[in-house]
Amino acid sequence: MLKINENYLKLPGSYLFSTIAKKVSAYQEAHPEKKIIRLGIGDVTRPLTPTVISALHSAVDEMAEAATFRGYAPDLGYEFLRNAIADNEYKARGCDIKADEIFVSDGAKCDSGNIQEVFSLDNKIAVCDPVYPVYVDSNVMAGRTGLYSEESGKFENVIYMPCLEENGFAPEFPEEVPDIIYLCFPNNPTGAAITKEGLQGWVDYANKNGSVILYDAAYEAYISEPGIPHTIYECDGARTCAIELRSFSKNAGFTGVRLGYTVVPKDLVRGGVDIHSLWARRHGTKYNGAPYIVQRAGEAIYSEQGKEEIKGLVSYYMRNAQYILDGLKKAGYSVSGGVNAPYIWLKAPDGMNSWEFFDYLLEELNIVGTPGSGFGPAGEGYFRLTAFGTYENTVEAVDRIINR
Ligand code: MLT
Repeated sequence: MLKINENYLKLPGSYLFSTIAKKVSAYQEAHPEKKIIRLGIGDVTRPLTPTVISALHSAVDEMAEAATFRGYAPDLGYEFLRNAIADNEYKARGCDIKADEIFVSDGAKCDSGNIQEVFSLDNKIAVCDPVYPVYVDSNVMAGRTGLYSEESGKFENVIYMPCLEENGFAPEFPEEVPDIIYLCFPNNPTGAAITKEGLQGWVDYANKNGSVILYDAAYEAYISEPGIPHTIYECDGARTCAIELRSFSKNAGFTGVRLGYTVVPKDLVRGGVDIHSLWARRHGTKYNGAPYIVQRAGEAIYSEQGKEEIKGLVSYYMRNAQYILDGLKKAGYSVSGGVNAPYIWLKAPDGMNSWEFFDYLLEELNIVGTPGSGFGPAGEGYFRLTAFGTYENTVEAVDRIINR
């Protein structure tokens, strides 16, 4: 008799952002006259930049001519894009990453969910708490975790590394050594950054223990302070222990276009096997490549004009972050993040828990944010606001909170 993958049944409720979307839709349906401001999911609101649009148009025109038409993309991505990434993201920062160590994909969410497939189910994962839910949920689906406990808000067989105000929202080395360590910096959801020295500590720890770090650097474009690494490969020894996940969504506004990449250095070897060849095998079998048109759009962000435009997008959102930070501080909130990341992390006021504050903001002020507890038990009592709204809506939302 057919059996389903029962690991899926271990997952409580639906995906965090789907749950929120449903709640917001129900509220809007009941109150169609209310103007709801959405600062929940980290989805961009600025349009694609002129250089990107022009690259998209040219690529579409190429697809209309027999001489320039393209069918399946190469499994691992077009050379033109992989070279542009290697030169601009790595070589320019003095990092030794070659174009053939870059795997182009349709976004970091898929890669961060799928990458665990190349590792045995016997491995134990460690995650920051709070954490981007995809890392944990994808391991649950694969069967790498035990059951979920309602009481603790945790899955068995997962090492949770609490990131709290007390430790500056930075994970500490766990007592039990994990096989796979998920790190995301600048961090989603707390907006915290890691110093070069701090990240070097993790690289040394992983190399010493034979662990692999899955490093999500989707928000690196938002780093504004010196001494914060833009890529884990700025650290010595990262080539032998780290895989990096990157996205075009948050820097170039590609959330609806879909483009990302994963870097697997050829020196990353475990059990005598290089992980690069496993991920290449997986990519070849299960993936037919991001569309040519989209890869040309990705390439365009590395032109001189493209780079200027991307800087403009990032500063637009960081102006929002500053407005939220200043406004909430003025209103007496305890806030962090928002300096090297487009997320602001705040303490729910008056002893409210995360979902109570969510309901309060939605129902009383018509503002949507993300409850911290949705990212893990250590997020309870916290709340995340995103800087990805329009400036006008951001100002209106913050003013609603201040003037309450
Ligand atoms: C978030 O809001 O955490 C992100 O937008 C989710 C994502 O990038 O998948």
